[in-house]
Amino acid sequence: MNLRAPLIRHDDCDELAALCKAGGDPLRLNVLRALANDSFGVLELAQIFATGQSGMSHHLKVLAQAGLVATRREGNAIFYRRALPQGELFGGTLHAALLEEVDELTLPPDVQARIGEVHGQRAAASHDFFARMAATFQAQQDLIAGLPQYRDSVLALLDALSFPAGATALEVGPGDGGFLPELARRFSRVTALDNSPAMLELARLRCEREGLGNVDLQLADALGSACETADCVVLNMVLHHFAAPAEALKQLAPRVRPGGSLLITELCSHNQSWAREACGDLWLGFEQDDLARWASAAGLTPGEGLYVGLRNGFQIQVRHFQRPAGDTHPSVHPSIN
Ligand SMILES: C[S@@+](CC[C@H](N)C(=O)[O-])C[C@H]1O[C@@H](n2cnc3c(N)ncnc32)[C@H](O)[C@@H]1O
Repeated sequence: MNLRAPLIRHDDCDELAALCKAGGDPLRLNVLRALANDSFGVLELAQIFATGQSGMSHHLKVLAQAGLVATRREGNAIFYRRALPQGELFGGTLHAALLEEVDELTLPPDVQARIGEVHGQRAAASHDFFARMAATFQAQQDLIAGLPQYRDSVLALLDALSFPAGATALEVGPGDGGFLPELARRFSRVTALDNSPAMLELARLRCEREGLGNVDLQLADALGSACETADCVVLNMVLHHFAAPAEALKQLAPRVRPGGSLLITELCSHNQSWAREACGDLWLGFEQDDLARWASAAGLTPGEGLYVGLRNGFQIQVRHFQRPAGDTHPSVHPSIN
């Protein structure tokens, strides 16, 4: 009898075993669920799942070794997000299937509540910043990227979209209102929504100075306030101040009328952590692919994008996303709530 050792391809087996091991724990599956539309630091995840930091670090290490989560350094902090399945690679099919099943899970109510707390802490940090910094807003903005550096690119995209006469616009987070004159010239009515009284006052002064009679300024949180819709929704340098940007896009997408557009100007991903302190940024820019993925999950179709390199090393992305004309209810992937 010829007893030969079976030919086991250890590399592939090890990879598959790591994937199965990572998926073989209820807490880790719930962590993957929580990361469906968000990224969290280890301390935040420890808070959300009411567990110790070292225990959570261990779980994240197992998930990372299996290629289920990826890390991103944000200054001194490391944020975890889901890794995208690579269908063509070995294990990719299992990875994709695992995430699909995980998305069917409902997070326990206390975990959902603590995710809300973490988002609340992030939002409060952003709100405090704009309350304190309104007086020096322009100087703070110019540290990284001021409106003059991206205004022409946003206008190029805006004008290429040829909105019909009578179209309306909504600017979320207008800051001191620098972009409002451009919108007021192009749209019949413009609504500007900001949750900082100090910033809104700066915008009000500008509207008064420039005689913008078709701009309606509203003090409100763009997330969670009553849903006013517009043909064009504009977010210039605002998304990186939102606690949960992917979730924010889901909430903002219904504000775009069917057939209308969402224009987002944002920093590309960077590693200048001083921007957190100096500019109140919650996120150090965004990967281009992440924005497209989050917009798609919010039922929007990615369109053209323009990229502006700055002399200080930052790069700006100006992106267009469209709400399909026949879409009366943007279809969204499961949300954490
Ligand atoms: C960096 S400023 C951008 C200002 C302006 N769009 C620009 O490009 O110069 C961000 C603005 O978003 C506002 N903001 C942040 N979070 C908000 C929220 N949840 N709802 C409404 N406005 C918000 C801030 O108060 C601030 O005016």
